[in-house]
Amino acid sequence: MLDTLGTLERTHICGELRSTNVGQHVVLMGWVAKKRDFGVFTFIDLRDREGITQVVLSEEDSPEAHSKAKNIRGEFVIAVKGTVVSRSEGTHNKKLATGDIEIKVTELLILNDAKVPPFQLEVAGSENLAAEDTRLKHRYLDLRRPQLQNNIRMRAKAVRAIREYFDKRGFIEIETPILLKSTPEGARDFVVPSRIHTGKYFALPQSPQILKQITMIAGFDKYYQIARCFRDEDLRADRQPEFTQLDMEMSFVNREAVYREMEGMFNHVLRLIDIELPNEWPRMTYAEAMRRYGSDKPDLRFGMELQDLSEGLRDTEFAPFAETLGKGGEIKCIVIRGKADYSRKQLDELQEFVKRYGAGAMAWIKVGEETTSSILKVLGEAKLTELASSAGAQPGDAVLIVAGRRSVVAAALGALRGEIARRENLIDRSLYKCLLVTEFPMFEHDEESDTYMAAHHPFTSPMDEDLDMFKQAVQHPADHYLLGKVRAKAYDAVINGYECAGGSIRIHQKDVQALNFKALGMSPESARTQFGFFLDALEYGTPPHGGFAAGIERTCMILCDTENIRDVMAFPKTASAQDLMMDAPGIVDQSQLDELGITPSHNPEP
Ligand code: AMO
Repeated sequence: MLDTLGTLERTHICGELRSTNVGQHVVLMGWVAKKRDFGVFTFIDLRDREGITQVVLSEEDSPEAHSKAKNIRGEFVIAVKGTVVSRSEGTHNKKLATGDIEIKVTELLILNDAKVPPFQLEVAGSENLAAEDTRLKHRYLDLRRPQLQNNIRMRAKAVRAIREYFDKRGFIEIETPILLKSTPEGARDFVVPSRIHTGKYFALPQSPQILKQITMIAGFDKYYQIARCFRDEDLRADRQPEFTQLDMEMSFVNREAVYREMEGMFNHVLRLIDIELPNEWPRMTYAEAMRRYGSDKPDLRFGMELQDLSEGLRDTEFAPFAETLGKGGEIKCIVIRGKADYSRKQLDELQEFVKRYGAGAMAWIKVGEETTSSILKVLGEAKLTELASSAGAQPGDAVLIVAGRRSVVAAALGALRGEIARRENLIDRSLYKCLLVTEFPMFEHDEESDTYMAAHHPFTSPMDEDLDMFKQAVQHPADHYLLGKVRAKAYDAVINGYECAGGSIRIHQKDVQALNFKALGMSPESARTQFGFFLDALEYGTPPHGGFAAGIERTCMILCDTENIRDVMAFPKTASAQDLMMDAPGIVDQSQLDELGITPSHNPEP
């Protein structure tokens, strides 16, 4: 039989009591984290969200409670009444905030039992955790772990700090709907069928982009929102199909004004972990970031910049390199300090790694008394020594080389740089390195279809300097390729290699917006069908405006020092976009589908 709480009220939480409380009568409640039975004494580590307190049941002093404790297992919910006593000499637990005291129990209530958890909650080190799928299925148990409790609380603090920041600065929080029309951010939409308008669909917002721009047209001047966003896209370690953004927009501003808010907000939030970022963040154009780091979100906590070997190989007769350069490609490398002892196996593994990013191969040079290389026979030792030294390599270093199209070389070496930093522990985790990446390209080229897509989103303004080129590219089909050169007033905030925020100055003139839709291959009719309401709104006095959105999860990953986005979400989805606890997505009743007028093309067995 379980006990009832009755009139009992808890007096303290489990992380609270110290030696100064010795002698007090207290009531604590929580979960049994651990029980140790020593015959005449039973020790229980009692846990609630604030910590752990050791409670002691003695056969001699409280026989009834002591015998009741025999039935208790891990995760049972109990209440104890007792007195705070000092722990005896030599048994103080330095690891616990409450480690100087324990509770001598006079009364024990068993408020609820618990099945044996399918995995152990208390483990030393994250590498000993049970498989993530098991933990996600029983998320309520996993969330009891202090680590996740702390992360979720840090997230709450971060959101509070963000609201504090924008409220103080005169921004108005405005909620926008979840059921709306498609808002393109480059992913697929999640669509919701309408019952009332059979055959018609809402789309869930990929972001509140268009609506926040309309709040500017509506004259709110400064808007913000903690907004849920939904994107049906390939998932990665830092992406979820459903996530949260701090979304903001302001009127009558240029890029500098938005940068100040971005810097100000992140600086305010990072103070939660006592990190002081510079008032003005370092800046780098997209082009420079790609050239030096092979990434538009470089992690600046370590060096290992990409070095260009193309010039030194201009006259090479080695066919793969000569062909690459002939086609306008590049040959670049990274230098890894002190790793001339990389084994053949390690180098083969790294070669496989770069191939995933489209590279055909990876050449290497190991600089030492004797220089060895995968391309020794074709280039000769003298040339290799010259190349290695031009890249800044010294004896003892390894040089890893990739040749190919500029985008492939950047992707492969950029990823390799990060991979090696992780493998070789080159990242000082006490550092927090921020960067504003600016002047993103306006379009991305799809080679297969030879079309251009918005690199940020279709409402992003071209840079003033590139406006004429943009117009020319759209109006003259022969100059279409120039779209690839147009830069946008788009920017990202990067911290420790994570894209924590992105934004832009928007197009506020309807003719430029119409040109942009045309550049994206949309006919005036299809632009009208999709965005007619927005084009209409643009005609009624739209102020110049711009803004940004910060990923709450990405920001919390920085605050909580984790590389797994699920660690900062209470109820995340798996990498294959499933909720294992609720077993969603699931099938729905045929009657529900009938009401919606949906005929399933295939209906999986329940
Ligand atoms: P963007 O698409 O760059 O911009 O998104 C803004 C920020 O949101 C975070 N983010 C994500 N976090 C988790 N999972 C995802 N799938 C995911 N996708 C994006 C990132 C990113 O920097 N409307 C524009 C903003 C604007 O222009 O104002 C937008 O959504 O941290």
